[in-house]
Amino acid sequence: MPASRSIAQKAERLRREIREHEYRYYVLDEPAISDRQFDRLMDDLKDLEARYPDLVTPDSPTQRVGGETREGFQPVRHASPMLSLDNTYSYDELRDFDRRARERAERSSLEYVAENKFDGLSLSLVYEKGALARAVTRGDGTTGEDVTANVRAIRSIPLAVERGALHWLGVPADFEVRGEAVMTRRAFEELNRQQDETGGKRFANPRNAAAGSVRVLDPAITASRKLDFFAYFLYVDGRVPLSTHWKALEALDKLRFLSSLRHASLCPSIDEVVAYCERWESKRDTLPYEIDGIVVKVNSIALERELGFTTKAPRWAVAYKYPARQETTIVRDVIWQVGRTGALTPVAMLDPVEIGGVTVSRSTLHNMDEIERLGLHVGDTVVIERAGEVIPHVVKVTRHGHGKKPQPPSRCPSCDRSIHKSPDEVAYRCVNNSCPAKFREALLHFASRHAMDIDGLGDKLVDQLVGKELVKDLADLYGLKLGDLEPLERMGRKSAENLLDEIEKSKQAGLARLVYGLGIRFVGERTGELLAGHFGSLEALAKASVEELTEVPEVGPKVAESIAEFFSEKANRELVEKLKRAGLRAEEKRRATRDARLEGKTFVFTGILPHLTREEAGEIVAAHGGKVANSVSKKTDYVVVGAEPGSKYDKARELGVEILDEDEFKKLAGA
Ligand code: IVH
Repeated sequence: MPASRSIAQKAERLRREIREHEYRYYVLDEPAISDRQFDRLMDDLKDLEARYPDLVTPDSPTQRVGGETREGFQPVRHASPMLSLDNTYSYDELRDFDRRARERAERSSLEYVAENKFDGLSLSLVYEKGALARAVTRGDGTTGEDVTANVRAIRSIPLAVERGALHWLGVPADFEVRGEAVMTRRAFEELNRQQDETGGKRFANPRNAAAGSVRVLDPAITASRKLDFFAYFLYVDGRVPLSTHWKALEALDKLRFLSSLRHASLCPSIDEVVAYCERWESKRDTLPYEIDGIVVKVNSIALERELGFTTKAPRWAVAYKYPARQETTIVRDVIWQVGRTGALTPVAMLDPVEIGGVTVSRSTLHNMDEIERLGLHVGDTVVIERAGEVIPHVVKVTRHGHGKKPQPPSRCPSCDRSIHKSPDEVAYRCVNNSCPAKFREALLHFASRHAMDIDGLGDKLVDQLVGKELVKDLADLYGLKLGDLEPLERMGRKSAENLLDEIEKSKQAGLARLVYGLGIRFVGERTGELLAGHFGSLEALAKASVEELTEVPEVGPKVAESIAEFFSEKANRELVEKLKRAGLRAEEKRRATRDARLEGKTFVFTGILPHLTREEAGEIVAAHGGKVANSVSKKTDYVVVGAEPGSKYDKARELGVEILDEDEFKKLAGA
């Protein structure tokens, strides 16, 4: 059925709203609504488009990930070559570049734009009539691969830009954007953790992970890989359509791209460029993604044209590369460390080396597969890399010693119980629930920054607390007294008081952090948030069945089973009780203040409600203690039906679930 005008308008309104929230979340990093609210908007739009397929536009936010997997990538020739940059490795070399450029341009000084040099995969995005038409990798610089279907899934890339903005900037609707796809260090570590869990191949660094995630045949994989894209060039017919590079970056920003403008600096001369490079060398670790240097570009486009290119690189731009954070050293031993889930991780003990100002004496080897891949033996000479805050890792073996190949131990190095390995996993595990090493790691995880954030509870202190049996389960932390802490090594009265304050403060960390902090296998931060939002209390989560758990968006059977298994253990159920008794905020804050007339009730919405958007309706349910599910089951209490409902309505009738219209729903909620 063709959509009426009001429905078409509603779809357009939703699209605009979703685009705005994508921009706020993925580009500005300032989300205005919760993930759940965002998902609801998206569900509304998907519902609407499913019912009126003629409403679907290629640039609709629902169309980021196409369904089909492809056979390979088509080669595409770039409109103008994607060249590389000459590298400089010292400020002297950088000043030489400036001198040569000044001489050629016959200027006494040149104005530059200094930008981060993102360590990722460069892409060319071709926009036609304001909409993303093609995304191509750099390839050999002349011809790249068509990765459009995958790149559409990168949410900081606009599928379409506002015509008004183009007009205002004086940029035609056919243009090209070049930039770099990157992965944050956190997403990279999370991805490798997942790869370990599922027996997939680890990525060596965020750059490889970004490149590997763009060059997969299934766009859904790219979508799940959390990539960002930093735009750094705007071209029209192979030329910058503005008078300066800075203006081009500003235009990209106005067109709502995440651009290199964010950390760029307009430098009146090379002196300021050097100062910028110095500043960023120490600041680079604070960025969420990796940079491997600074790119310096002549600001004036007229001068850029005058300077031109050598055969392989522009004369108007250069890269200043930071020293590689790699060193060579010798592996003296390989020990096995027990993690919080009991997984044994091999760790290489090294002759200490300084890498980028930090002394490194150990390096993770991840698992047995990695040892095989590296072909590593004790006594080998290896290259170690320390990138950002990522734990140092072995890049490759450069010379073999004559030592043994490391073998996993047959007993746990901490509790001496036997070790298990399931056939579908890479890791060897200690399955003893009271293994002290596991508990030590669990406690560190519980206190970590993204969990309960107990500042000062580091590994030395945890060793003492566990070793002296002052803390035997996570809840014991909350029973610690000044008298317990003061006598510990490196603890004065002041630090003991500070720690107790921190522990007290952590009681307010909230349910999502607490759920994450419990260290349940497969439950990362995001899952912690989703579970907290869905169940509202630790008690409700602990009681949930596998079936109920899989109702939570993004929670699959594997995760659900792991959660249910965790709470089926008596010790863990007792832990929940003990944490509650200790006064931890084990419920969502807003739950404490709302009236609970819909407490425990599950609602499913279908069809278009006359007055409320899905989001508003969802808010009402949540505000009164109920929850919204996506599909109708026997557990559904009410199905709220609007105009032209979908199959959920039929299912509700089939199961005899109570059906309400908007008015009845409002009455029930007292809204
Ligand atoms: S400008 C003529 N700006 O570095 C090529 N490149 O070594 C000018 N890169 O292929 C490139 N961040 O992949 C430019 N802010 C930035 C960059 C950047 C990273 C990469 C890009 C390029 C390589 C050159």
